[in-house]
Amino acid sequence: MDFRLHNASVDALAAVAADALILVLAGDSLPSKLDKELAALIKDAIKLGDFELKDGKVLMLQRPVGVKAPRLVLAAAGKSTLKSARAALLNGLGQLKGRGAAHAAVAFIGFDSSLTASLAEQFVLAAGDADYVYRHTKPSAPAPGKLVKLSLLVSKTDASAAKDGLAQGEAIGAGIELARECANRPGNHATPTFLGEQARALGRSHGLKVEVLDKAAVEKLGMGSFLAVAQGSDEPLRFIVARYDGAAKKQPPVVLVGKGITFDSGGISLKPGAEMDEMKFDMGGAASVLGTLRAVAELKPKLNLVVIIAACENMPSGRAVKPGDVVTSMSGQTIEILNTDAEGRLVLCDALTYAERFKPAVVVDVATLTGACVIALGAVRSGMYASDDALAASLLAAGDKALDPCWRMPLDDEYAEGLKSNFADVANIASRAGGSVTAAKFLQRFASKFRWGHLDIAGTAWKGGAAKGSTGRPVGLLTHFVLAQADSDL
Ligand code: BES
Ligand code: MN
Ligand code: ZN
Repeated sequence: MDFRLHNASVDALAAVAADALILVLAGDSLPSKLDKELAALIKDAIKLGDFELKDGKVLMLQRPVGVKAPRLVLAAAGKSTLKSARAALLNGLGQLKGRGAAHAAVAFIGFDSSLTASLAEQFVLAAGDADYVYRHTKPSAPAPGKLVKLSLLVSKTDASAAKDGLAQGEAIGAGIELARECANRPGNHATPTFLGEQARALGRSHGLKVEVLDKAAVEKLGMGSFLAVAQGSDEPLRFIVARYDGAAKKQPPVVLVGKGITFDSGGISLKPGAEMDEMKFDMGGAASVLGTLRAVAELKPKLNLVVIIAACENMPSGRAVKPGDVVTSMSGQTIEILNTDAEGRLVLCDALTYAERFKPAVVVDVATLTGACVIALGAVRSGMYASDDALAASLLAAGDKALDPCWRMPLDDEYAEGLKSNFADVANIASRAGGSVTAAKFLQRFASKFRWGHLDIAGTAWKGGAAKGSTGRPVGLLTHFVLAQADSDL
């Protein structure tokens, strides 16, 4: 998809040359400056009962009189928020699906100009989202469609903000695409080795330092917890460390840690069969930190970023770790593994301990960690945990700005009660109640040396059912969060 910026004031939209003109209309009245031709057409459509300035309403007109573009698409946003604008744009683009238009020009009308950059970003992201088709193991999947060029129409005063938003949208869009592509690939394709190769390829294309550690190196580091999860599988593990250096060496980096379970069978605590295939998405955290790294490397902010991925399969076998086994984590803490299906925290704890060596400004881990988080928050908001209020506020703000929202969850010490063990420093599960929180409490024990945030993306990383597939979340949230750290002068 080719994205362009085009200067056109609201009173000159009728003269824009494109195969389709899409007007995303905020509010319940038309701005007075709008083209007379366009205003008359819209009022007429409303009068005929074919269109309303109400959330979700959309109408396509062919060869409307006085409009240069042969197709006019009206998409009402209802509210003048970013979220409504994105939904309306997707409705508008939906009208062109399967039709002949190759070039669409889009104008957001009636939105506050403080939203310009975000609108431009969402313009790219919404279109990219609508355009994505998974084809790696299904080359016969229908092609995305004829639409190949999208122009954003903005007034001169909004041009510079729109340009920045467009660039940000393209970078985040590329990151989301990488994340979706990795996560959608089946477990026999997207192996730990594949994730390591993806990181290396990103390193080559974007000039990043990438290290991929194998089992021997992980043994040397003493990651007994990570090794315990990996030991049941014939697929070799990978511990991936990739760095973007955009600031002085001495500047403490932002560190992102991703859970990279390329297939989670549950291990000896085997999962039930229904929907077990979806556990190929259990590397969604890893995919999203890789995608974020890509977006950041393209935008080149002045900061240092380290991305860490602990990748392996969780499988049952004669060599697999068993319920009741006690392992020693890299931190020295012993862990009683009461349920081998609570494996995400077991790979993340060692990755968190490894992160200490970077003397990080902040560490955020990202994981499809608990079914309990899906019960708590569904597919709308990711669960967010933070060791301090300022960090929680910036994660929350990043999510809102990216339309990739999260919700803060509690970390009261009482939630850790159930993790007590008679045979080790800590058990890897507590009772069923508050399962997302107890998982976070487990991780917190390994995150005492730095500011720490944790995103439980079990409900948001992928969709099931007919639309089964990776969402690419939370690449948007994470990229906004990382960029804001550059501005916040750590
Ligand atoms: N990868 C799963 C979490 C998950 C489950 C994500 C369903 C999305 C949908 C994780 O490794 C897991 O199995 N967690 C267990 C923990 C339990 C054994 C304490 C869970 O949530 O059931
Ligand atoms: Mn599991
Ligand atoms: Zn898992």
